[in-house]
Amino acid sequence: MIRIVHTVAELRAHLAGWRDRGQRVALVPTMGNLHAGHFSLVGLARQNADRVVASIFVNPTQFGPDEDFARYPRTPEADAEGLARAGCDLLFLPTVETMYPLGAAAAARIRLPGLAEVLEGAARPGHFDGVASVVARLFNMADPDVAIFGRKDYQQLQVIRHLVRDLAFAIDIVPGPTVREPDGLALSSRNQYLTPEERATAVELIRNLRTMREQAAQGLPIDGIEQEATERLAAAGFVVDYAVVRRADLTRPESGNEAGLIGLVAARLGRTRLIDNLEFDDPGTGA
Ligand code: PAF
Repeated sequence: MIRIVHTVAELRAHLAGWRDRGQRVALVPTMGNLHAGHFSLVGLARQNADRVVASIFVNPTQFGPDEDFARYPRTPEADAEGLARAGCDLLFLPTVETMYPLGAAAAARIRLPGLAEVLEGAARPGHFDGVASVVARLFNMADPDVAIFGRKDYQQLQVIRHLVRDLAFAIDIVPGPTVREPDGLALSSRNQYLTPEERATAVELIRNLRTMREQAAQGLPIDGIEQEATERLAAAGFVVDYAVVRRADLTRPESGNEAGLIGLVAARLGRTRLIDNLEFDDPGTGA
């Protein structure tokens, strides 16, 4: 069985023991309700460190007032079992009081101008401030050598890289590839909310991202690529938040011929909001 700790003191005591033995520590931050995508991050952590700590904390400060914080599935027993099987050594399961000792309303907030305000940040105001604020706390509590974040949440990964560089955390950020269903749908805790019909439609996200990649390679204008993808997704039954082509830093490219471009989509099917992305130069992320 995996060891579970709830307080910062217990967490630090474990980590100190490992460090005394010269062991490198990887942190895998999560909000629980874990699936194969998360477990692959634990596998990657194992490859990059001697010891792996996962955290499960449903972070209230990254949910908007109309979002699913209360409804967010909490499955700690199944998560702990899965983490143990995946090779995780320690699970940090803090309370809200541990993460926000002065209360969430009085908590120091990290605001990242620009990067955190576009795309997901525009659709979910304050979301990345909440993510940055909780991840900075986890970094201070665990002080890991390495931390693993999935490419599925591409903008979040860029926000974390920005945070690490800007606040001088001595932590290597290792990105984990997106894990997909056989038909290409990216794994997500939110997929479980889809009706069978919506699940069949959801595959259009990755199909459209692949089309966007082909059209960019042909040098078609970015505006047209984005508009067509938006129209195709709407015709398939999505309410589209965005379907865009961006540079790695999420600025808008001049043309599809630039290297290192990425397609990003966010769209709702019924009550479920899904996101996905495809790095055009990296066949490993899109199957
Ligand atoms: O990706 C997530 O699950 C969360 O945003 C994270 C990074 C654990 C912060 O709460």
